Amino acid sequence: MGTLDGSVAIVTGGSGDLGRAYCLGLAEAGADVVIADVVDPSGVVAEITSAGGSALAVTVDISDPDSVAAMSAATLEAFGRIDVLVNNAAVFKTVTIGSFDEIPLEEWDRVMAVNVRGAWLCARSVVSAMRERGAGRIINISSNTVWKGVPGFLHYVTSKSAMIGFTRALAREVGEHGITVNTVAPDYIPDAILLDQYPGHDEAVVAQRSIARTQVPDDMVGTVVFLAGPGAGFITGQSFLVNGGSHFQ
Ligand SMILES: NC(=O)c1ccc[n+]([C@@H]2O[C@H](COP(=O)([O-])OP(=O)(O)OC[C@H]3O[C@@H](n4cnc5c(N)ncnc54)[C@H](O)[C@@H]3O)[C@@H](O)[C@H]2O)c1
Repeated sequence: MGTLDGSVAIVTGGSGDLGRAYCLGLAEAGADVVIADVVDPSGVVAEITSAGGSALAVTVDISDPDSVAAMSAATLEAFGRIDVLVNNAAVFKTVTIGSFDEIPLEEWDRVMAVNVRGAWLCARSVVSAMRERGAGRIINISSNTVWKGVPGFLHYVTSKSAMIGFTRALAREVGEHGITVNTVAPDYIPDAILLDQYPGHDEAVVAQRSIARTQVPDDMVGTVVFLAGPGAGFITGQSFLVNGGSHFQ
């Protein structure tokens, strides 16, 4: 028996590095997982089903209201309920790095459209299914860059900062329906491309940590699975920094 047996969880950006880890962790805990991404999620679905879990691939652009509505409709058609939403999809690895006054206008708008509007559209599209059951978990993924004030991609950091206010105010709006809303903030978790693009950066980040090692996607999973589960029903509006103790709230 897993703690999430019978639950249905949607993970946006589930084809990506961290999203994949959340999907595998939620499936291992017993949830039926909907892997929702603009990039074909079928590889992650295959990983889960070959391990005996249950998963559905949904191709979605979270900045598009119709596409998001189709994601929720496909989830309800396949599984009949929605218990958990992990708002993880974001424009992140492709953002322009540079001075704040040189960010292209269109890129600023696209980052906000996906990272902020997308989270709102997804929350909006699952809330009626959660309200009907009188329970739900919305987990928003922010970033330690907000607490650190990392320069060089102001649009991205601004969008991740928005998740904190979004979480707090939404928690107040949906609490009466038994729905919790929390933020989880990863520190720098480099994949092979980031390691190649920014040589020396991981070492610098690792040196700031109490637990001085490279952070990996699996480091995030326990917090997300816990917040999705029955033990976290009285925790809402909060932000959790999963950063190996690089800095404290
Ligand atoms: N990796 C890190 O160092 C780090 C640190 C802090 C926060 N984060 C956050 O964690 C989350 C995942 O990051 P990651 O490292 O796995 O990045 P990633 O780029 O590997 O994954 C992001 C996923 O989001 C998807 N996506 C992008 N735009 C989309 C859209 N419009 N609709 C649907 N899906 C879309 C991408 O296709 C991708 O699969 C992001 O919210 C990111 O901001 C990551």
